[in-house]
Amino acid sequence: MTFEIKERDAAGRVCQFTTKHGSVTTPNLLPVINPNKMIITPKEMKKRFGVEILITNAYIIHKSPALKELALQSGVHKLIDFNGSIMTDSGTFQSYVYGDVTLDPVEIVQFQRDIGSDIGTILDVFGTPGQTKDEATKGVKETIERAKKSTPHKREMLLACPVQGSVYPELREHCARQLSALDADFYPIGGVVPLMENQRYADLARCILAAKRGLDPSKPVHLFGAGHPLIFSLAVALGCDFFDSSAYAKYANDGRMIFQWGTEKFDDLTELPCCCPVCSKYTVSELKALDASERTVQLALHNLYISFAELRTIRAAIQGGWLWELVEQRASANPFLSEALQVLREPDHVAWLEHYEPTSKKTAMFYTGPQTIYRPTIYRYHTRLLTRFEPLFKTTVLFPEGTKPYSMFYSQELKNILRQKNVNCVVHSTIGPVPFELDEMYPLAQSVFPATVDQETKEIVQHAVERFLKDTDVIQWEHCLMLEEDKSHTLDIDFDKRRISAVSDMQFGRGASEALLSGKITIIKSKRTGKIRNIICDGHHVLSMRAEDGLFTLKLQGGHRLHKSFKHPLLRVVVIDDAVPFVKEGKSVFAKFVADCDPDLRPYDECLIVDKNDTLLAVGRTLLNRDEMLSFHQGMAVKTRESI
Ligand code: GUN
Ligand code: ZN
Repeated sequence: MTFEIKERDAAGRVCQFTTKHGSVTTPNLLPVINPNKMIITPKEMKKRFGVEILITNAYIIHKSPALKELALQSGVHKLIDFNGSIMTDSGTFQSYVYGDVTLDPVEIVQFQRDIGSDIGTILDVFGTPGQTKDEATKGVKETIERAKKSTPHKREMLLACPVQGSVYPELREHCARQLSALDADFYPIGGVVPLMENQRYADLARCILAAKRGLDPSKPVHLFGAGHPLIFSLAVALGCDFFDSSAYAKYANDGRMIFQWGTEKFDDLTELPCCCPVCSKYTVSELKALDASERTVQLALHNLYISFAELRTIRAAIQGGWLWELVEQRASANPFLSEALQVLREPDHVAWLEHYEPTSKKTAMFYTGPQTIYRPTIYRYHTRLLTRFEPLFKTTVLFPEGTKPYSMFYSQELKNILRQKNVNCVVHSTIGPVPFELDEMYPLAQSVFPATVDQETKEIVQHAVERFLKDTDVIQWEHCLMLEEDKSHTLDIDFDKRRISAVSDMQFGRGASEALLSGKITIIKSKRTGKIRNIICDGHHVLSMRAEDGLFTLKLQGGHRLHKSFKHPLLRVVVIDDAVPFVKEGKSVFAKFVADCDPDLRPYDECLIVDKNDTLLAVGRTLLNRDEMLSFHQGMAVKTRESI
C-alpha cells in the first residue's frame, strides 16, 4: 500500500492511495456492491464514473454456499467482475442490524484474505449511540482484542480496523490510539450509521474529531456507512479520506433522489433540478413512464452522479484552498450540519484543526456567514497577534475599516501621523485588529468580507480588538485629522522597516526580527508594483517577500541568523544521518528521513533543516506538520530551497 499527500486544505487532504489492484485519488467514494443484487454492475460503474475502488460484503458471500465456493475458487474480483481495488466488510453491520450473525472473528478475516480482497475488515463490535459508557468500553475492548488477533492473518491483504466507542470522545480516541499501534493499514470510523440516519451531525463531528486525534495521521480514514454527499465536505475537512455508499441504491429503491443540499422525493418533483446525464436525458414525466425497476436504476445512477460530482468538487476545493468555504456553504443548507460546524469552534477542536491548517493558500478567504470568523486561520492570526506581535508605542491610533491594503487606502493619514507622532496605527477591520504593518500578510489582504457582517462576528472582532489594545492608549483616527497634510512627504522608509519586522515576528516567532534584521538594512522593491521584494542585511540577502501572500521566503543567509538566535527545536526539521548528503545537494526531505520537528511548525511554514547535531544544512518549506512528518513513510516532508 502507498498513501501519500498530494494537496491539502483544512485537516483534509488529497492523497494517492494504491493497492495491488491499482491507484485512486482520495477523498473518494466506494460504492457498495451487494453480490446478490447489483442495481448497477461494477463494470458499468467503472465505465460511467471511473470507479477504481468499491466495497462488497464478505459475510454475505460467506453465507451463501454458491458465492462462497466461487469466491474461494476464483477470487472476489472474478466473482463480481471487477479488476480495480476491492474492500470487503466483515458482517459487523449485519450483526448490528439483524443480530443473528455467528461468525468467528479470525475466520472471517482469513476468508477475506483467501478470496483475494485488497482491504479486509476485522469483525469489530458495532458501538451504538445509545450505549452506556460501560457497554461502549466493553465493545471497544473486544474490538481491540479482535484486531490484535486478526493482524497475524492478514498477509498480503490490507487490514481495516474500525474505530468504535459510541458517542464517548475519550473512548473513541483511546480506541484509535490502540488500533494505530497495531500492524493495520486502514482505519474506518465505525458505529456512526445511526448518527447519520438521525441527522445527529454534531455528534458525528465529535466522533470524527476524537478518532482523528488518536489515529496515525499517515493512514487512510474511512467514514463507515456514510453515503450522503451532504456531509462529505465536512468529514473531509476533519480528515476523512473514504466514504462508502449504499445510499445511492437504498434511496433509489425508496424513490428518493440525492442532491448536494439533501434529498428529494422523486414523486414530489415537477422538474429535475440537476444536469447529470440521467436528468438531462429524461423529464420527470418520462422517468415516471418507465417501469419501476428501470426507474430505480436511473435514480441510482443520478444518485451516484451527484455523489461523485461532490467528491470532485471537494478535491478541487482542497487543491484550490477553498475547502472551508465549501463546508460552510453545505452547512448553510442544513441546520443539523450547521450545528456540526459549530462544534468546531470549541477551543480544543479549533486548536487541533489549527495544527493542520496551511499557513497560506492560493485563493483569498471568502466570508460566508457567522461561522467564518471561527476558521482556524483567523484563530491563528488572533493568537499570534497576542503572542508574537509587539506594539512599538504606548499610543494607538485606531482606524475604521477601509479598502485593502489599508496602508494604501490611508496613505495620506498614515504619512501625516507618522511624521508627527510615535504611535501604533491599527485598523479595526471585519477580521480583527490589523496593525498597518501586517496589512499585506495572509489572510488580511487575501480575505473578502462584506461591508456589513453579522452581529456575532462583530462581537468577536470587538473582543479581539479590545484584548489587543488593552495596554495602550487609544485615539480614534478622526481626532488626528487636525494634523496638517504635507504633500511633499512620501511614506517613510521606516514604515517599510516596521512592516518587515512585524511580519518576521508574526511568521517566525517573537525575536525573529531582531535575529534577521539587526544590521544595515536595504529593502529592494519591485519597480512595477512598488512592493517589497528582497531584504538585504549587512550585504546578505536574508528574506524575500512573496507578492501573493505578503509572507517571507527564507533565504539561507536568513536561515543562518535564525539558527543562531532560535534554539533547538524551534523552526527546525531534524533529518537522519542518511539524508544529510542529499539535503546538502539541495534535494527535498522525504518524511521517512525526518527524525524530529518543531511542534510549532505548520504546513507550508518556512523552516531550518538541520542534522542530529543541529548543524544547519538547508532552508525550506514544510509540506506537513510534525505529527505527519513523524508518521508518514511516503512522500515529501520539506521542500528544500537553498542548501549550504
Ligand atoms: N458498516 C457501517 N458501520 C460499520 C461499522 O461500524 N463496522 C463495520 N465493520 N461495518 C460497518
Ligand atoms: Zn441528475
